Amino acid sequence: MNIHATLGQNSQPRFLMCPPRHFAVTYSINPWMDPKAWADSGAALHEEAGRQWTGLRRALAAAGAAVEMLEPAADLPDLVFTANGAVVLDRKAVLARFRHGERRDEEPLFAAAFAALQARGLFDEIVTLPEGTTLEGAGDCIFDARRGHFWMGCGFRSDAAAAAFIERRLGAPCVPLPLADPSFYHLDTAFCTLPCGSVIHYPDAFTPAALASIHERVAPEYRIALGRADAARFAANAVCVDRTIIMSRCSAVLRRALAERGYTVVTTPLEVFLRSGGSACCLTLRLDRRSNEIAAVADAPKTAAVGKVG
Ligand code: ARG
Repeated sequence: MNIHATLGQNSQPRFLMCPPRHFAVTYSINPWMDPKAWADSGAALHEEAGRQWTGLRRALAAAGAAVEMLEPAADLPDLVFTANGAVVLDRKAVLARFRHGERRDEEPLFAAAFAALQARGLFDEIVTLPEGTTLEGAGDCIFDARRGHFWMGCGFRSDAAAAAFIERRLGAPCVPLPLADPSFYHLDTAFCTLPCGSVIHYPDAFTPAALASIHERVAPEYRIALGRADAARFAANAVCVDRTIIMSRCSAVLRRALAERGYTVVTTPLEVFLRSGGSACCLTLRLDRRSNEIAAVADAPKTAAVGKVG
């Protein structure tokens, strides 16, 4: 496993990414994935993937982030989705266990990557999930810095039972959110926490119980509810670096809702990865997530609750 810093120093936001050298859609484990459609135009799409992924890496660098590289591996086309590799908080990482056999061989590669990061002094502890429990990393387990807890998507890929383990080993409460729509099978496809406390989410992706849980904890003026169009272009699958939010595409209404809260949206096309059911957030894993990071940027939204946007 070859990990090297391509940018950066210690206080910078730091992400793990994996170049799409072997990215393709060769199997189908979510409704977006159509191996036949990929095979029909694979060569052009593969080149496009390289360009789009580089656009995302550049957008992160321009926003001030450092990027660590995970070496791609042949026959593991979904390794590019590093968000699924681990749940990270306070220099600890809980390694993922995947639901589907198609992604299980990624597990030792993420384990080796985190061992290398630990050897470099970037992590204190690397934790393995109990046998038989699946949890697909930060794709399903999102830290809410403003509220001091994790939100965990469950039902499709991750087991609700993993929540208690995360609480014990990472020391922050974990609120399970049962997911309802197979097209939004990971929490990060429909949900994004922002440092000000606002939460971008697509309500239809959640069961009534999950939505009630969100409404109980997130006051109306902090809710940014996406409409179908923004949801379908994975606008919730965004990466926030300080006050910059990077995503593939964004409606004017969503851009305005975010601007009113003090954020600048940077769009960089990632449609090729949508063919695998992924976008900006899935292609990155924040490595320096801290439980005490709310700090400077945690002011309240300036606007009242909006209805659905986009
Ligand atoms: N094809 C991948 C899968 O189905 C996409 C993963 C997207 N990652 C994410 N964090 N949502 O597992």
